[in-house]
Amino acid sequence: CGIVGYIGKKEAYPIILNGLKRLEYRGYDSAGIALFDGEDIQLCKTKGKVAGLEAKAEKNISLKGSLGIGHTRWATHGVPNDVNSHPHYSNSGDLVIIHNGIIENYASIKKELINRGYTFTSDTDTEVLVNLIEEVKKQEDVKLGKAVQIALNQVVGAYAIALFDKNKPDEIVVAKLGSPLAIGIGDDEFFVASDASPFIEFTKNAIYLEDQQMAVIRRGREVKVREIKDDKLVTPYIQELQLNLEQIEKGGYDHFMLKEIYEQPSVIKDTYRGRLLADKGIVRLGGLEDHIKRFTNANRIIIVACGTSWHAGLVAEYVFEDLVRIPVEVEYASEFRYRNPIITEKDVVIAISQSGETADTLAAIKLAKQKGAFVYGVCNVVGSTISRETHSGTYTHAGPEIGVASTKAFTTQITVLTMMALRLAKSKGTLSQSDYMLHLRELDMIPGKVEEALQSDEKIKEIAKVFKDAANFLYLGRGYNFPVALEGALKLKEISYIHAEGYPAAEMKHGPIALIDEQMPVVVIAINNNHYEKVVSNIQEIKSRAGKIIAVVSEGDTTVKEMADYVMEVPVTPETLSPLVTTIPLQLLSYHIAVMLGRDVDQPRNLAKSVTVE
Ligand code: G6P
Repeated sequence: CGIVGYIGKKEAYPIILNGLKRLEYRGYDSAGIALFDGEDIQLCKTKGKVAGLEAKAEKNISLKGSLGIGHTRWATHGVPNDVNSHPHYSNSGDLVIIHNGIIENYASIKKELINRGYTFTSDTDTEVLVNLIEEVKKQEDVKLGKAVQIALNQVVGAYAIALFDKNKPDEIVVAKLGSPLAIGIGDDEFFVASDASPFIEFTKNAIYLEDQQMAVIRRGREVKVREIKDDKLVTPYIQELQLNLEQIEKGGYDHFMLKEIYEQPSVIKDTYRGRLLADKGIVRLGGLEDHIKRFTNANRIIIVACGTSWHAGLVAEYVFEDLVRIPVEVEYASEFRYRNPIITEKDVVIAISQSGETADTLAAIKLAKQKGAFVYGVCNVVGSTISRETHSGTYTHAGPEIGVASTKAFTTQITVLTMMALRLAKSKGTLSQSDYMLHLRELDMIPGKVEEALQSDEKIKEIAKVFKDAANFLYLGRGYNFPVALEGALKLKEISYIHAEGYPAAEMKHGPIALIDEQMPVVVIAINNNHYEKVVSNIQEIKSRAGKIIAVVSEGDTTVKEMADYVMEVPVTPETLSPLVTTIPLQLLSYHIAVMLGRDVDQPRNLAKSVTVE
């Protein structure tokens, strides 16, 4: 979910509405807003997207008030409908709250509140929280901030909340545990949001609350930050934001996803800028230099991540084992943390996360730290929770990724992980000098090759036209390109809602081959590398069962070209770096299919970009 708030001299409505649109990547099942002009609260909420909220609000409420809060939801408790949307009132109608996260012990609290005469209109845990705060305020006869603090100490779960009290027209109270919360500090005005994007045009100064912290924000006055547990006042660190407005706008593209696909040549360069000096034979990652020994002495590397980041981890497994000769395990963060994993102080854990906020990945990191492992983060969002929780790490510097389906985050993650492997291989002496130099030079050529791969766009669009109505797709690849097959299938599933599966090409004959008939398009990554001959055999197996082949081939290929129904060409690279180029046509293929099917490419149904619940 995404939350946003404003208190100052301006009208809150346009600021909140625009902020919600920027936060919509965090969830878009429902949206709501509450405005307060010191007299009346105007509340409007609706199932569906922020655009729907806008239409409803402009028809039904006055839009007046210089204090406001807004919410865009990814449903956890209760189906997405108008009633379960945020904000939520307390029973008296005085308190109004928005919440991102989950209150785990809500059921017992709710029971107790019902015993005390409270009634509930929604199924949400949030309505329980706001009434708990109201009850504490009444029972203890304390101010709003204090009541929030006492209530939160009774709550188990995760939250970023913002609330206000009708009797306190100049105050917003916020608190954080687990879910992110930033406070923008303007000129006599304050902003609250899940990330800084809603207020970037108003201020470059922000406080990121730490876990277990709350703040009382007073109009035209100050932000007072406290520890929720022991009430200690803390001096917050005011961070200067790097983000700019252009980065979060579409810049002439139809969708953020397409913009982000096309940004890859430049963001991959940004990722290695100043870190890779190919001519001089230098790879240098600030976060890694002081910890080289931890890695080279490690028994093994465990990579934890979710979704697309997990696929980047799988690519890294090949790169690290190949170049650095350290055993690597790649784990879904959600599985890792719940299966009593064996972790020792000799292990190094790499956590990969675009957002740096994914709850499962964060929990895996905490567990690994407890067990004494060294934890290294590969994140895109600067200052994110995971980047702060890890012992050290490297940012991908891909810039904000707004399309829910991840594209440039994936290729820049692979870029960072490959640089790490090269740096470690150099220290460990596991790569010959000439191979090392070759890899550096080839990595430096990747942006140009990605650019070239993008030039097949029109051709890929034609292929998309042919296959857009298929009900299923199979994606096959081997070695370094097996994870690319998984990622290609995931992209298609996410944005077109077509069922797709990725498989190691050779494994096809142990099951999925049963699915193949003339209806089944099979996307095969068949570039010229170690596995070429084997993949060619796999293609033949599909052909002889009438399957339709769409092959990703190396420039100049002739063999596969003759066999395949359609081909998408990519420039030749060493196999180690090939995922960076073979991914590109698969991103474009899924994009065009989704557009042709009329899907909501940037905000596909049921998904959220940043999943801050477990
Ligand atoms: C969500 C997104 C995926 C993403 C995954 C991990 O499920 O929809 O696109 O890959 O989370 O996100 P992270 O920010 O940790 O990379």
